[in-house]
Amino acid sequence: MTEPLLSAAGLTKSFPGPDQVRVPVLRGISLAVQPGEFVAIVGPSGSGKSTLLYCLSALEPYDSGSVSIAGQRLETLRPKQLQALRRSTVGFVFQSFNLIPSLTARQNIALPASLAHRPVSATEVDAALAAVGLSDRGDHRPGSLSGGQQQRVAIARVLASRPEVVFADEPTGALDTTAGDAVLGLLRQVATGTRAVVMVTHDLEAAARADRVLVLRDGTVHRELVRPSAGQVLDALTAAGQEA
Ligand SMILES: Nc1ncnc2c1ncn2[C@@H]1O[C@H](COP(=O)(O)OP(=O)(O)OP(=O)(O)O)[C@@H](O)[C@H]1O
Ligand SMILES: [Mg+2]
Repeated sequence: MTEPLLSAAGLTKSFPGPDQVRVPVLRGISLAVQPGEFVAIVGPSGSGKSTLLYCLSALEPYDSGSVSIAGQRLETLRPKQLQALRRSTVGFVFQSFNLIPSLTARQNIALPASLAHRPVSATEVDAALAAVGLSDRGDHRPGSLSGGQQQRVAIARVLASRPEVVFADEPTGALDTTAGDAVLGLLRQVATGTRAVVMVTHDLEAAARADRVLVLRDGTVHRELVRPSAGQVLDALTAAGQEA
């Protein structure tokens, strides 16, 4: 087996609760993601999915345990090194797209790469736009694009900056079925070669497009399913306490 691209061991995190008591959210998560894998994380609302994604992607600190991305142990990195890792090694796709409204699609796509001091050429931006089927929308600002088109720009932005691990939190949550399908197809394509995608989703059909599905429950990995059908994801979620 190859070295995992992303791994976590014994990851815990709590938030401050009432009366100075900390509320545990992640209670010892261990996982490994191989290059080329598309992994989905599902679980009841409040089970810690987004928190896990933010800890794995160096957006939020965790309390204990360890996380490695592309051979780098996050807890050993200084703030500047963490910032560099966020900019170059990981990419994000959010439910709310998170495009900059005043910039065109092309400018949005080029921004992270230039922040990471490895600017992309106009040709690379064109290739990223073409890959998501938006060659004719490069000069549009997000406000004049549909939700599905905005999410495709967000994926083109990830493609252009070439991160090793792409994290997506409910990437189809704001999209209709057709637009969601297109976005999932693109994420599927992103997860090839040396790159992996880790996606949090509520959508059973979306989870069923992944190679592997981790079912969270109360801050632990309750089940792991390999290439499940949507029905098998539903059964596992029901067992984890979610109303269908
Ligand atoms: N910044 C915070 N401060 C305090 N509590 C938080 C914070 N962020 C998350 N939590 C709590 O941690 C728990 C897990 O939240 P998280 O957002 O990870 O859940 P989730 O599985 O992504 O849920 P959903 O499916 O609704 O998005 C919840 O009980 C939430 O209230
Ligand atoms: Mg969430």
